[in-house]
Amino acid sequence: MTGNQSLRILHLSDLHFGPPFLPKVGRALQEMADQLSPDVVVVSGDFTQRAKPQQFIDAAQFLKQLPPVPQLVVPGNHDVPLYRVAERMLKPHELYRRHISEELNPVLRVDGAVIVGLDTSSPYRNITNGRIHRWQLDLCSEALRSAPPDAARIVVAHHHFAPAPDYLHDWTMPKARRAIDRFVELGVEMILGGHLHRAYIGNSLDFFPGTDRERGIIIVQCGTSTSRRGRGREREKNSFNLVEITATSHRITHYVYFDEERGFTPFSQHTFPRPGHQFEHDVQQAAAVVESAEVVNS
Ligand SMILES: [Fe+2]
Ligand SMILES: [Fe+2]
Repeated sequence: MTGNQSLRILHLSDLHFGPPFLPKVGRALQEMADQLSPDVVVVSGDFTQRAKPQQFIDAAQFLKQLPPVPQLVVPGNHDVPLYRVAERMLKPHELYRRHISEELNPVLRVDGAVIVGLDTSSPYRNITNGRIHRWQLDLCSEALRSAPPDAARIVVAHHHFAPAPDYLHDWTMPKARRAIDRFVELGVEMILGGHLHRAYIGNSLDFFPGTDRERGIIIVQCGTSTSRRGRGREREKNSFNLVEITATSHRITHYVYFDEERGFTPFSQHTFPRPGHQFEHDVQQAAAVVESAEVVNS
C-alpha cells in the first residue's frame, strides 16, 4: 500500500437473525454498506439468535446482499445450538459451516493487510464467555509469519479480549491476557470483536499493560448491527464500524442507527498512527488549545 491508498474494512457484528433481528435496520445497513463501498467486509460472529436452520439461511442471504468484496467471518456463541445439547456436543458448527462459512479460523490476505479470524465459540464449556486456545495463537503466528512488512496485522474474534469501560461487568474470555501478550509479540495492530453489544474503541494497554507498554493493540468492538439486543450505552441502538487503513494511520468511524435519520450516521471517529509513524505536531493548533485553556482558567 502506498501514498494515499487506503483499505476500507466494513466491520459488522451480532446480526442475531431470529426474533431479535430488526428488518428496517438491516435494510438501512445494506444501503449504507453500498454507499461506503468497502474493500473487505468483516462480521465478528453471532449471525443467529438460536443457531436454527432458517436463521442461518436468512443470515447467509443477508451476507450475499452486501457489496461483492471478500468477507471474513467468525462464529459467535449464538451460532452453536445452546439447548440442542446432543447436537452441540456432536456437531456444534454443522449449520454454521453449511450456510455461513466452512472455515472456522479463516485467514484473508488483501493488499495492505493480513486478517486472521479466530473461532472463540466454545461449544463444550465457557459457552457464553468463549475461549481462545494455544493452538489458535500458533495458527495466528503461522499466518502472520509471511505477512509483508507493511501489511496491517489484524485479528478478528467474536469474544472480547478486554472489557468495555463501563459497569456491566462482562467476563473477559479466559486466557485473554496470554493471547494479548502473544499478539503484541506478533505485531498485531488491531483486534476486531463483538459479543458485548456495544461499541468500544480503545487500546489493550488500558487493561493489560503487559511487558511491552509502547503501543499496545487497538481494540475495535462493534455493537449489534441489526438486533434489538444492544446493551449499555447502545441499549436499543445499533452500530457498525468502518476501518480505514493507510500506510501511516488507522481511522475507525463508529456509525450509529438513528430512527429520526432513518439510517446510520457517523457518531465518533478515532485515529491512530501505524507503527513507525507519528502524527504531525501542529504547533499553531497546540498553541491555540493552550491559549483557550488559559482563558477558561483565568
Ligand atoms: Fe451477540
Ligand atoms: Fe455473543
